Amino acid sequence: MIPVTKAFLPPIEEYTKYLKGIWESGWLTNYGPLVNDLEKKLCDYLDVGSLSFCTNGTIAIQLAMKALDISGEVITTPFSYVATTNSILWEHCKPVFVDINENDFCINTDKIEEKITDDTKAILAVHVYGFPCNVEAIEKIAKKHGLKVIYDGAHAFGVQYQGKSLLAYGDITTCSFHATKLFHTVEGGAIISSSKEIYKKVKLHQTFGHSEDDYFCLGINGKNSEFHAAMGLCNITKVKAIIDRRKIISEIYNQTLNFGRKLSRPSSTLDFDYNYAYYPVAFDTEKRMLEVKELLKKNEINTRRYFYPSLNTLPFIDYQPCPVSESVSLRVLALPLFYELAEQDVKKISNLINSCLEHE
Ligand SMILES: Cc1ncc(COP(=O)(O)O)c(C=O)c1O
Repeated sequence: MIPVTKAFLPPIEEYTKYLKGIWESGWLTNYGPLVNDLEKKLCDYLDVGSLSFCTNGTIAIQLAMKALDISGEVITTPFSYVATTNSILWEHCKPVFVDINENDFCINTDKIEEKITDDTKAILAVHVYGFPCNVEAIEKIAKKHGLKVIYDGAHAFGVQYQGKSLLAYGDITTCSFHATKLFHTVEGGAIISSSKEIYKKVKLHQTFGHSEDDYFCLGINGKNSEFHAAMGLCNITKVKAIIDRRKIISEIYNQTLNFGRKLSRPSSTLDFDYNYAYYPVAFDTEKRMLEVKELLKKNEINTRRYFYPSLNTLPFIDYQPCPVSESVSLRVLALPLFYELAEQDVKKISNLINSCLEHE
């Protein structure tokens, strides 16, 4: 079976070298040397001001919202993984959905202002598949209305926009380092900000709100361990090779898939260095997407409806119409993309999809 994604694993000797160190020091968690080292290395690699390594990308969004003291309404996108909306709800805020662009599937910034009310406190946007949101427009709107900006950068590791790390935009950007992501720490995430004050708040909140015997505020356990940091330290040295390989695979898909009326792929008009985080395609109808998914499955190839469903249609929230997102989420399919994926398998996947496009 060809999976839709496969976690990159570094040479085992590299990981066990770190494990030996953990065994010698006896330091397993609570900001040990490996977590500190990983935070520094990630700050350097991503060229961001401060970064706090945390449990996962969902807790990262919740910690970001807490650090910025967000309550009330949060403008967000319906086209994301459920963790984005769930984090807003978990923090007792109300998600207010703004529809997405037809081309890059990111939040449509022309439609944000009409959704702002006296209760709006923040914009939580997602760099979908690693494509940058219109960060300038979002910044302008946020300044005009006094809103905080959080980017869910779960897909945006290593993306450069206008010569700057995409993760450096907004009041806070969050990351996911889940095993399915191009850079991973098995489970993990990060909160990125250029503000020292926000960094300190996040650190406090993620360590139960206290420092030794001084108790300051409400907090949770959002720390991550030396074992997870060790995986990150191994993988950070491989990120360039991982992105290069994903680029090669993506280009084979680009060249071998028959794009046209029945098949398209998201694209951005912005000028940025992409990270090849995913390879999503959109069909003209849900029926065709399901036919392709089934055909690939019969041929032992897994794909993923990503993102599906459109989050404004979740059964536990009040429905707010977002026609573009609802339509795209019915038709989109993420194709296999991972470091070890063989070139002949990519071609085979393309041929199978092309054969389905020939039927009317
Ligand atoms: C856009 C987006 N946000 C948040 C998350 C949540 O990250 P995690 O699985 O690390 O909690 C994901 C995970 O896939 C995601 O794709």
